[in-house]
Amino acid sequence: METNRFKAEFKRFKKKKSVEISSKTIIHFGEDYPSPDAWKIVQEKFDTSDDRWGGSRFGLKPMSTWSIYSIETFPGFIYIVDPFIRGSHLYWTTRCIRDYPLAPNASNLDISLNPSDRGCLWEKHISLARHERAEVDWLRKLRWVTLGYHYDWDRKIYHKERVSKFPDDLSALSKFIAELFRFPRYQPEAGIVNFYNMDSSIGGHTDHSEYDLTAPLISYSFGQSAVFLLGRSTLDETPAAMRVQSGDIMIMSGESRLAYHAVPMVFAAPLCNCKRGNDGAKCFCLNCEEGIRESLSYVPDCAPKDWNPIRGDVDLLSNYLQNTRINVNVRQVLPNDGKFPD
Ligand code: OGA
Ligand code: MN
Repeated sequence: METNRFKAEFKRFKKKKSVEISSKTIIHFGEDYPSPDAWKIVQEKFDTSDDRWGGSRFGLKPMSTWSIYSIETFPGFIYIVDPFIRGSHLYWTTRCIRDYPLAPNASNLDISLNPSDRGCLWEKHISLARHERAEVDWLRKLRWVTLGYHYDWDRKIYHKERVSKFPDDLSALSKFIAELFRFPRYQPEAGIVNFYNMDSSIGGHTDHSEYDLTAPLISYSFGQSAVFLLGRSTLDETPAAMRVQSGDIMIMSGESRLAYHAVPMVFAAPLCNCKRGNDGAKCFCLNCEEGIRESLSYVPDCAPKDWNPIRGDVDLLSNYLQNTRINVNVRQVLPNDGKFPD
């Protein structure tokens, strides 16, 4: 009998109703509960000094405060529990919603909208909502944006000539993270920004189109929560299931670089409790208008010179984020000589 344990697990979560999302059933990194017996979670200790800590310019807390994990049987996989300070979630989220979808970056909307005419999807979203116009709200149809070398989804390759500038802030953040985890030669050259609604999922796949597979994948998640499945190089082993929350960073390197992975379900992040004070639950901040309003005043040093906070109604932003998970997946495409192979 052919077994595909990965798919079985994917289906189980995708059906949603039949699964329980608790620390007993899926890994909740960063909490003191025991994890599901199947996986041995290792908390990684890094010998770091916060002297001359350079991460604040990206909104990162000092590294000595980070919770970093690996899973014993998945070498090369690293999980960092939200190392961002609260206000910086909104900065990165805003870059993803408002700025990264601008032309000449590519998006799933390019087949329906001329990229140079699509303008700012966020501005249009606000204007439609304010004037109650019955036009298509393209922001709601945005599923992915690609940065740097644009991924050709049909042929599963990158093209030498299909490239736009990779954003400086995301590049600097990703190089910084790569260096901390001892990938000093890492060059962020392509990025996929995924926009999930509460019903979205992404099926099991490997990311193997890059030329240097010793360079890690670095993935950032913002907004609503998700279940992430981490498998191995084949589909016949049961994947590890983990909860991913806003601000969490995953690194796939070494043996896990070519592992199958998937997001079978998105689910609501815990409600923010800013108003009630911190009573122990993780404060998600983007899950309430209060949190968003607070975060609007935060601008990290890596922001472009002309950066301004998102304009428009905070309640519209709050509505959008309450139904959206954003994942930014950064890759090095080229071999270490930096030349595009023929
Ligand atoms: C991808 C991917 C996973 C996620 O874009 O290749 O695997 O967490 N995304 O959304
Ligand atoms: Mn992937």
